[in-house]
Amino acid sequence: MLELKTKILYYQNLYYNLNYSEVPDSEYDKLIKELIYLENKYPNYLDNNSPTQVVSSLKDSHFKKIKHLSSMLSLDNVFDEFKYVKFHQNLFVKFKDFNINFCCELKFDGLAVNLIYKKGILSTASTRGNGIYGEDITDNALTIRSIPKELKGDNIPSLIEIRGEIFMMRDDFINLNKDRNINKKFSNPRNAASGSLRQKDALITSKRKLYFICHSYGIWHGDLIPFSHYDCLNKIHSWGIPISNYNSVFQKTEEILNFYYKILNKRSLLKFDIDGIVIKLNKLKLQKKIGNTSKFPKWAIAFKFPAKEKLTQVKNVIFNVGRTGMITPVACLKPIYISGVKISYASLHSIKEIQRLDLYINDFVNIRRAGDVIPQIVNVVKSYRSNNNIIKISIPKNCFFCGSKLFTLYKKSILKCSGQLICSAQLKKSIKHFVSKNAFNILGLGEKIINKLVDGRYIKDIADLFYLNIDILSSIYKIASKNSSNIINSINKSRRIELHKLIYAFGIHEVGDVLSFNLSKNFISISNFMAADFDTLVSVRGVGKRTANNIINFFQSNKNINVINKLFKQIKVYDHKTNYKYSIFYNKSIVFSGLFYKINRILLKEKLINLGARINSNVSYKTDFLIAGNSKSNKIILAKKLNIKILNEDEIISFLD
Ligand code: IVH
Repeated sequence: MLELKTKILYYQNLYYNLNYSEVPDSEYDKLIKELIYLENKYPNYLDNNSPTQVVSSLKDSHFKKIKHLSSMLSLDNVFDEFKYVKFHQNLFVKFKDFNINFCCELKFDGLAVNLIYKKGILSTASTRGNGIYGEDITDNALTIRSIPKELKGDNIPSLIEIRGEIFMMRDDFINLNKDRNINKKFSNPRNAASGSLRQKDALITSKRKLYFICHSYGIWHGDLIPFSHYDCLNKIHSWGIPISNYNSVFQKTEEILNFYYKILNKRSLLKFDIDGIVIKLNKLKLQKKIGNTSKFPKWAIAFKFPAKEKLTQVKNVIFNVGRTGMITPVACLKPIYISGVKISYASLHSIKEIQRLDLYINDFVNIRRAGDVIPQIVNVVKSYRSNNNIIKISIPKNCFFCGSKLFTLYKKSILKCSGQLICSAQLKKSIKHFVSKNAFNILGLGEKIINKLVDGRYIKDIADLFYLNIDILSSIYKIASKNSSNIINSINKSRRIELHKLIYAFGIHEVGDVLSFNLSKNFISISNFMAADFDTLVSVRGVGKRTANNIINFFQSNKNINVINKLFKQIKVYDHKTNYKYSIFYNKSIVFSGLFYKINRILLKEKLINLGARINSNVSYKTDFLIAGNSKSNKIILAKKLNIKILNEDEIISFLD
């Protein structure tokens, strides 16, 4: 119990005084629940200073304290349907003689604040603090645009406590973090909102983008107080205070479960973080009847979403090799499930990230799925670290796959394998790229066959692909001859290749499909391209100094030249066609938007590139055409504003015909 109390107090201090959550809420709640369980079982060990009795500590805060006019309670919560239905049924039974309904809202993941308005004028603003006393953040709150200094409208109360959440939009959080020192980044929008609000200097707060949304109220002295919570929120809204437009009233369990799943599905599309929904008995009279416990109202509950961040342990760190030899450290995790997906690995991107996180093997870490997809380590939980158990991550000196020396680039942030074409890991990835659609477009060569071809040493460089025969394929490819002959046919078909596809197929670092086309357009033939010097290369649109060096280094490698010569014996390269100059798309900047149903988007892009067009991803005043598929988008709105010619799917098809 002592150990639990120490941990909880430590996290409370971090959270309330340093705006930092070292562990996810779910982990914190688990500790609290365990302590409550033990205190119930061994009441002799329960003391008044236990964090289960005192909501939080404010002792180290540098803000003046303000006593709330009525205490700010917390919310009880449930994580599954079954427990929610139990809450709902209990209220139905209790109020069987009343026609009860519920106000359902989003549960905002921000910072609870209490705004006191006297005769409609903002008097003080404070954080929730320990529920009885909060911190005086009036000066800071005055800088937030969505908090009116004065209420306007009918029936303004003589005194009211307006309660709600201060939060930061996800995009603003990302932008704020971009400008911050690597060690000072906020771990999530809630911490960013908390850190931005609780500034001694309100000028700093004024520069941060914070929003306020009202979800409840405390003292309300005035006339014509509405009878339901939903109406109360709307009344408050009529005075100029923002409320959520997701607030809805329902009666039946099924309706509320529907609302829960609807919001859960929308969660990642919202511009701000939420961690569940809140369900409140709507009639104020009935709320009063059922009352509160010492910590939360019995008439409301938070139905939380599955955690997006989870705690787990790093069991090992491995070093993967990419196509261009770039080494990526990857953390192997004790598997966990986040939103139903099993997560066993998290990329560490670069060796710098290991230093930034100060990560050791056996450390406990919080994992989040960035953008709801890619697993990412948020932070190391140092308080869980046991020093005799952790192992330093040693950065390898040689490639795990080919033994070649590793070297560092860009101020030691990037680690690379020097093995290039002799490295089997790089070779496998190079082949995958080489056979891909925008390169040689060889069909049937999936990852499994490529691995077998490289591991069996049938292919030692990419040129060896053109020396394959049916016997080799059939011997490794158990399904036999039909598939093997299809592959050979596809290889043979690919022997005639356009220059831009060949350039792309080389897989030179930073040379993508669009740039390959520009290079091919500029140099016309492969021999011109291979002979180009630095100055000529940087004069091509889209080629920077770094890319020019990558190209030069690629052709300076004897190993690469040997493979290219071997390749040339097997393929025919078409010089760049020049007749596209007569196309209206020649040298024009084109942007795509929306979905295409009548023509394949990749094919369309390729055709336009062949006509000398440049494809860009964003609309700007430099854009010549927007090819708009079948949906509305911001790009279309912007293009209209900028007077850019917009072609729909039928128009572009008829132009190309
Ligand atoms: S009602 C007496 N409604 O959640 C009930 N709270 O876990 C007062 N929160 O401290 C709160 N969204 O800051 C309510 N729609 C919502 C909410 C909400 C977020 C926060 C609130 C509270 C915490 C409790």
